[in-house]
Amino acid sequence: MSDKLIIFDTTLRDGEQSPGASMTRDEKLRIARQLERLKVDVIEAGFAASSNGDFECVKAIAEAIKESTICSLARANDRDISRATDALKPARSARLHIFLATSALHMEKKLRMTPDQVFEQAKQSVRFARNLLDDIEFSPEDGYRSDPDFLCRVLESVIAEGATTINVPDTVGYAIPELYGNFIKNLRERIPNSDKAVWSVHCHNDLGMAVANSLAGVMIGGARQVECTINGLGERAGNCSLEEIVMAVKTRKDYFNLSLGIDTKHILATSRMVSQTTGFVVQPNKAVVGANAFAHASGIHQDGVLKARDTYEIMRAEDVGWSANKIVLGKLSGRNAFKQRLQELGVAMESEADVNSAFIKFKDLADRKSEIFDEDILALVSDESISHDNEQYSFVSLSQHSETGERPQASVVFTVLGKEVRGQSDGNGPVDASLKAIESHVKSGAEMVLYSVNAISGSTESQGEVTVRLQNSGRVVNGVGSDPDIVVASAKAYLSALNKLQSKADRVAAQG
Ligand code: KIV
Ligand code: ZN
Repeated sequence: MSDKLIIFDTTLRDGEQSPGASMTRDEKLRIARQLERLKVDVIEAGFAASSNGDFECVKAIAEAIKESTICSLARANDRDISRATDALKPARSARLHIFLATSALHMEKKLRMTPDQVFEQAKQSVRFARNLLDDIEFSPEDGYRSDPDFLCRVLESVIAEGATTINVPDTVGYAIPELYGNFIKNLRERIPNSDKAVWSVHCHNDLGMAVANSLAGVMIGGARQVECTINGLGERAGNCSLEEIVMAVKTRKDYFNLSLGIDTKHILATSRMVSQTTGFVVQPNKAVVGANAFAHASGIHQDGVLKARDTYEIMRAEDVGWSANKIVLGKLSGRNAFKQRLQELGVAMESEADVNSAFIKFKDLADRKSEIFDEDILALVSDESISHDNEQYSFVSLSQHSETGERPQASVVFTVLGKEVRGQSDGNGPVDASLKAIESHVKSGAEMVLYSVNAISGSTESQGEVTVRLQNSGRVVNGVGSDPDIVVASAKAYLSALNKLQSKADRVAAQG
């Protein structure tokens, strides 16, 4: 049995299925590049047959990424498989992921197929796919709630047809660690050709056990691939979280004794990127990547950590990308100190020009905020590598007046295709007035489905990070803006969301 644990990231496919988490092609490409830096083994880039937009995303990622295997999901039919294979053509290393439901409930109520029909379709689809690609993964959807006898029959036949990875999804997050681990163990023991495939786990988090179930699938079941997402993003309560799985296996190597290809120093930057892109804020007490994950508040703990870090720390913050350098940057910090901090935070800039423009933003922020924390820097550079060339709207300035007992007024100056315009409005509060001021000019008619403010580094001196989610004509987009002034951050976030609504980039619902 191999001792390498394969990390299969599905942030761009299953993660994107989270309501409101859909991403543009450029955003997906940027995250794929970050996943490559993180040294993820397999990136599930999308579901090519689900829409032209997703086809283009998978293709673009297959063209750009060289180090990770690129995978596309496909239903078990010739059209989906051909479409996925076409999108994957440019990939240096490509995988096809075929799925078909096998639980009695799904077969009868959703697919309206008999078990024999499902068996035939699974077998035929893998046979067809094997003529096009060598690396084939098969997933019996709702596998954990499927009849084990039937599952053995299906999986034995798809392995015989050439499936190289067998993934056992707990699609609805119903499993319990010990039971799930034994379920996989049992399948592997009963299926005569089980050793011809790598076994994989794919757990949803409905009962909060996705990580525990995945680890049980590995330790008890012998799985050697884990399917997961950054920040545990995914439908309903989400998927198994990549950062938690990876750090559990790394921190408890004494128990798991497995090797990983992941460069953990990039975990934090990846987490921030996914959170900013999707607008899904990471809770402060989230393991590994939450703002408090390495903060020691109580006096006893602080005292212990100062004497010996391992009194209360089981992982080193810098191993996941938090900077070990506690020198807080400020307006006297130079370009070199700033660049070094970027490196320590695992932030990769594509060019020196990107570093320069991030440094200008940093100086601007340092003029308004005396101490610049790691979180500020991560927010600042978050959209540095996205091209803003074709963007319609750009923030210039804002003034607003609010006084107790009076209705707030706002005036916002922004550019529309480079030309300056001014919108004015009143509103219930300064944020409402500012966004209405923009809308008075743009007249997008978009409905706001989410507005959230998050203090990036905790105090009132902190930058506010605002997420705005807009919906218009069936499209849902997220805009994020940050600034020490939360009204300005809100206006920036609103304009960013409007830019995405305007862009031709096709939005996709990953699983149709
Ligand atoms: O949860 C699930 O069953 C899936 C499959 C498509 C693998 O995401
Ligand atoms: Zn899933």
